[in-house]
Amino acid sequence: MYFTTFNFFFVIAFALLVHAHPVSLAVRDVFVPEVLTPKAGDTWVIGDTQSVTWNVSSPPAQITNPVGQLLLRKGELTQNVTLAGNFSILAGNVSFIVPSVTPDDDYSVVLFGDSGNFSPEFSIVANVSGTS
Ligand SMILES: *[C@@H]1O[C@H](CO)[C@@H](O)[C@H](O)[C@H]1NC(C)=O
Ligand SMILES: *[C@@H]1O[C@H](CO)[C@@H](O)[C@H](O)[C@H]1NC(C)=O
Ligand SMILES: *[C@@H]1O[C@H](CO)[C@@H](O)[C@H](O)[C@H]1NC(C)=O
Ligand SMILES: *[C@@H]1O[C@H](CO)[C@@H](O)[C@H](O)[C@H]1NC(C)=O
Ligand SMILES: *[C@@H]1O[C@H](CO)[C@@H](O)[C@H](O)[C@H]1NC(C)=O
Repeated sequence: MYFTTFNFFFVIAFALLVHAHPVSLAVRDVFVPEVLTPKAGDTWVIGDTQSVTWNVSSPPAQITNPVGQLLLRKGELTQNVTLAGNFSILAGNVSFIVPSVTPDDDYSVVLFGDSGNFSPEFSIVANVSGTS
């Protein structure tokens, strides 16, 4: 069943997120780079090209999963919106077109590689100049 499988994915994803936060204190070769941008309160315009950057200054020697995936999160919920996929987690940045989602001010991004880490909250707004 599609829906069940999908929910299961989110349960796993959430478990990883909860798990990911205290990680910085421990020594392990799970690479959970800190998201540097977007910063809290940033604004993205739908249709604009945006990039997300993360700190790759000290990757472990071995990375279990070097392929990154970037998802959108709203409030506490990871959305079924992939902003970018199949990029190197060691690249430190990825760019993409901001998708047409409901404008709001509680979006964040989730960066997955070995594990997940998320950004502070920012806003996504419609292109106001495009509607006039
Ligand atoms: C990136 O992480 C390193 C330590 O791993 C830290 O020294 C450095 O300040 C961080 N850079 C930024 C821009 O946060
Ligand atoms: C998630 O998005 C993909 C691609 O847009 C779609 O094929 C899939 O049905 C969606 N799943 C759910 C549960 O909404
Ligand atoms: C992911 O990237 C690799 C290397 O760039 C490429 O060989 C592969 O076809 C890509 N996979 C998808 C699904 O885009
Ligand atoms: C983005 O990543 C590429 C290498 O993957 C690097 O050359 C470039 O300087 C990075 N840009 C920014 C803004 O971090
Ligand atoms: C916003 O709309 C204006 C006018 O239609 C257009 O020129 C501009 O490229 C749009 N910007 C984005 C980010 O889509």
